[in-house]
Formats: sequence, structure tokens, C-alpha cells
Amino acid sequence: MTITFEKCNRDYLRELFQPSRILLGIVGDQNRSRFNILPLCFHTWCSYEPLLYAIAIDRDNYSAHLFEKASEYTLSIPGESMVEKVLYCGTHSGRQYDKTQECGIQWIDSHNINPPGISTSLANIELSTVARYPVGDHIMVVGEVKTIFRAKDQAERPLLAVGPSSFGFEILAHKGIHTIGVAPTRKS
Ligand SMILES: Cc1cc2nc3c(=O)[nH]c(=O)nc-3n(C[C@H](O)[C@H](O)[C@H](O)COP(=O)(O)O)c2cc1C
Repeated sequence: MTITFEKCNRDYLRELFQPSRILLGIVGDQNRSRFNILPLCFHTWCSYEPLLYAIAIDRDNYSAHLFEKASEYTLSIPGESMVEKVLYCGTHSGRQYDKTQECGIQWIDSHNINPPGISTSLANIELSTVARYPVGDHIMVVGEVKTIFRAKDQAERPLLAVGPSSFGFEILAHKGIHTIGVAPTRKS
């Protein structure tokens, strides 16, 4: 059989690229003496030695301006029970809201950096900023992993940003362009 290819746009490619794992970026907001949180699905490991992770933040997001200055930040991995908090943090801005207060985030102290982790997450990754790159309408921030803490005996599944084709995933929440789900367990 001969396969033909057709030109397509980025939205069509989303079907092939997604799902992507959802992380929560936690960054200090010095002027307001608090921390801001935003969900991220633009991210990747980019070095083993040293251990580096890259995230990309839209310049329109309040967090972009915070990450421009931050020397440290946390990447937290939310599980199923946090889906509503993730959706809230991904559809509201720290410009107007104290998202921590509004959705009842429970902090846990970090070990090697100032920004905290989240006590209900599956894992918290502590990073220090090693590079920032302007990339089109986003900024890319590369961080060196200082410490990773994983919750013991946590059976929840990590959250996924599911694309336009949600077949095969359990969908937990949907708002606007965002559909959040989990991969099915072997039993379901
Ligand atoms: C599942 C999900 C994934 C997202 N991924 C990203 C991302 O990778 N980069 C980004 O800049 N915004 C991303 N967003 C959008 C921001 O989280 C959203 O615009 C947020 O309200 C920004 O908050 P802030 O203005 O307090 O920074 C995502 C949102 C959701 C719900």
C-alpha cells in the first residue's frame, strides 16, 4: 500500500504529539510575597549530566515575567485528585488571583531551594535556573535539578494534557481548549 502525505497545520499534529504530561511550575512573586503556579505541558529533559530540564512559558503569562528573574523554582507533578486545581491554575492568572489561596494548595518545604513543593503531588523537583532563551512568543527556561522527592505509596496516576482525540484516555476535566485525563489502568 502506498501512503500519501498531506500538508497540515500544527493543530492536526496535536493528535500525534499528545498526550503530554502536565507539570506545575512554582515560582516566587517577590512583589506580592507569594508563589505563583502555572500548569505546563511544553517541557522536556534536555541533559543527563548535569541533569537539566527545559520548560517554555508564553510571554503573555504572568509567570513569564516571574521566571525572567527567578534563580530557583519547583516543578511539581500533579495526580488525579488535583485535576480541578490544575484546571483553575491553568485558566486564571497570578496577575489577578492568589491561586494558592483560591484553590487551597498545600505547600511542603523544599530541601535545597526557597520555592516550596506541593504536599499532594506525586513528586516535586527542585531546580536552579541555568539559562533563559527567548524563543518566539515564549521564553525557554533551563533548570538544573537539585533534588527530586517522590511521594511514597502514592497510587494516583499523573495527569495528561489530552489532545483533540481523547480515545483511550479517561477524561477527568475539560475547559475551553484544555482536556485533562489519565491513561487507563490495566483493570479499567
Ligand atoms: C494542561 C495545561 C497545560 C499548559 N501548558 C502551558 C505551557 O506549557 N506553557 C505556558 O506558557 N502555558 C501553559 N498553559 C497555560 C497557562 O498555565 C495559563 O495561561 C495560566 O493561566 C498562566 O498563569 P499566569 O498568568 O499566572 O502565569 C497550560 C495550561 C493548561 C491547563
